[in-house]
Amino acid sequence: MRNQIEQLKIEKNAVILAHYYVPAEVQEIADYVGDSFYLAKIAKQTDADIIVFCGVQFMGESAKILNPDKKVLMPDLTADCPMAHMVADDIIDEMRTKYDDLAVVCYINSTADLKCKSDVCVTSSNAVKIVKALPNRNIFFIPDRNLGSFVAKQVPEKNIILNDGCCPIHARITASQIKTEKDKHPNAYVLSHPECEAEVLALSDYIGSTADIIAYSRSSEATEFIVATEDGVDYKLITDNPEKRFYYPNPHPCCADMKLNTLAAVLSVLENEDKEVIVDEEIRHRALIPLDRMLELVK
Ligand code: 13P
Ligand code: SF4
Repeated sequence: MRNQIEQLKIEKNAVILAHYYVPAEVQEIADYVGDSFYLAKIAKQTDADIIVFCGVQFMGESAKILNPDKKVLMPDLTADCPMAHMVADDIIDEMRTKYDDLAVVCYINSTADLKCKSDVCVTSSNAVKIVKALPNRNIFFIPDRNLGSFVAKQVPEKNIILNDGCCPIHARITASQIKTEKDKHPNAYVLSHPECEAEVLALSDYIGSTADIIAYSRSSEATEFIVATEDGVDYKLITDNPEKRFYYPNPHPCCADMKLNTLAAVLSVLENEDKEVIVDEEIRHRALIPLDRMLELVK
């Protein structure tokens, strides 16, 4: 299957982008593997004719918005991030009426419709930097309350209004699960994604995006880590650090949508080009504004 994928990639001038949460065998054959921010940048820069995006809907959609002339395919178009939809109807308009200097800051884990209503997008790796750089004092942070509250702690000079959305996978990780692992491995550092609940973040030695967690584990002098994020990161963590040990909360955090990106599905979509990401042109234009603003603000 790998040879067929390689051949089709060359024949069709296609590039495969994969998030760290997809199955290991897909990360192995991908041209680029990364966190949401890195993958958005690559999607904007590539000169391939076809982008095969192994991730969830908001990632494929962002790639299409940033790169309208490319054909963006997903191995499974039903792979979705439930948090991307967790903003109540009309709440953005209500907030804009309430605060006249409001900036709506939209985590990239959101639908294109939500991006259209927002001022700037962020990812977990640049949210603090972007919120700090905004001139607005009042910030409505959507959809993730946990990332929003993490940012609020780092940027106390702003009034950050939280929205009641969260990642079901990260929200399921409990402080007691982390303590259980810490009892078993007392020297292990706790590395957490900011989508985790505040009680988990309070027990953490390091908090960052998937790419930040991977970079931290490489440079850290510690040899054991408890990882509070989706277990797909394990492939890169153990490849980079064969001498180090990585433990996960029990049960392992697993995003079923990310796991829909199987090798067979990658081959099939490359062969048939049938699962194309389509974004309405008017929505694309409006959703591009906050995505481009994010890319500008981090320069
Ligand atoms: P990263 O941007 O850290 O890769 O996170 C994406 C995501 O979906 C986390 O659940
Ligand atoms: Fe969405 Fe959570 Fe899956 Fe990330 S891990 S894609 S935030 S459901």
